[in-house]
Amino acid sequence: MALRIGFAGYGYIASVHTTNLKRDARVEITSFFDPDPSRAGSLATADFDEMLAKSDAVYITAPNTLHAELAMRAVAAGKHVFCEKPMATTLEAAQKVFETARAAKTVFQVGFNRRFANVYQRVRELAQAAAPHAAHIKMNRGELLKPVWTADEKVTGGFLYETPIHMFDMMRHQFGEVASIDARMGRPNDFSMLVEFQSGMHATFVTSADASWFFPYERLEIFGEYATIETQEMDFVRYRVGLDAPTRTEDYRDVAPEIKLGFAEGDRRFVDAVLGSGAAPVTALDGLRSVELACACYQSAVEKRRVRL
Ligand SMILES: NC(=O)c1ccc[n+]([C@@H]2O[C@H](COP(=O)([O-])OP(=O)(O)OC[C@H]3O[C@@H](n4cnc5c(N)ncnc54)[C@H](O)[C@@H]3O)[C@@H](O)[C@H]2O)c1
Repeated sequence: MALRIGFAGYGYIASVHTTNLKRDARVEITSFFDPDPSRAGSLATADFDEMLAKSDAVYITAPNTLHAELAMRAVAAGKHVFCEKPMATTLEAAQKVFETARAAKTVFQVGFNRRFANVYQRVRELAQAAAPHAAHIKMNRGELLKPVWTADEKVTGGFLYETPIHMFDMMRHQFGEVASIDARMGRPNDFSMLVEFQSGMHATFVTSADASWFFPYERLEIFGEYATIETQEMDFVRYRVGLDAPTRTEDYRDVAPEIKLGFAEGDRRFVDAVLGSGAAPVTALDGLRSVELACACYQSAVEKRRVRL
């Protein structure tokens, strides 16, 4: 029998996941719950509990501030959960989701798709040879005008829980656990951070909510011993590893978006984990750690001092 999957929230990101899951013969999408009746179509359910009853595994794809509660309800009902980022928008809620997921026997995965993006997988391989000692990270948005809810903290939980939280996860994924953050906030939603890692490595991270749509919005630069690795969006990796080595460019623009952005592998590995082959690749602990970093950044920016993790 196919794995029955339901969705809480059927907007943009749910359509990305359903496109991947419909190609997976092991899966049947059985139900959607969305309070907007125009969204869910013929598989619509009257409420969240009816969607749970029709599912073995559940995608939480509602707006940010709803994730923690919906995810915990799904885990409590014995369901496997794929929770879109952010896992929660407060430290307290993130800890509760983590404890709930840890106590359960079911799979819990967080939607940090960038871990599976070609560019970031390649960076991880290259960084092993580069022995990185420093990095510079940029992740900007053009505006918080479209869609309008991106400027509403009641929906997002705050700007850092929107796109920048991807980079809090990515810095851990590439460089290991963070020891401290020293952040400053210019206007609301403009942050500069000095991040120190437990390894002794350090990085700067700048993120601005309304820098205009200037390409690349997202860039990682890594500096090692006679080595530099640089990304542009999830399209290019440029690198030179070795003093006399040539500078190389890898171009992923022609890769299908669901693969290039990492969504397809994230969905496949969630289904693999639910069906017993492999563990969830992005765990509730990863979700908690990313929320801890966002909270530490807010705290450091408000108090204008370094915060230790
Ligand atoms: N991993 C990524 O790169 C990525 C990309 C985009 C969005 N996201 C995340 O996915 C989530 C959804 O974003 P989106 O762009 O699809 O937004 P969206 O507005 O397109 O869709 C959200 C849907 O949730 C529904 N909804 C509202 N309240 C609900 C409730 N109580 N229960 C169930 N559904 C409810 C809305 O009616 C809407 O249809 C956000 O948390 C966002 O951060 C992740």
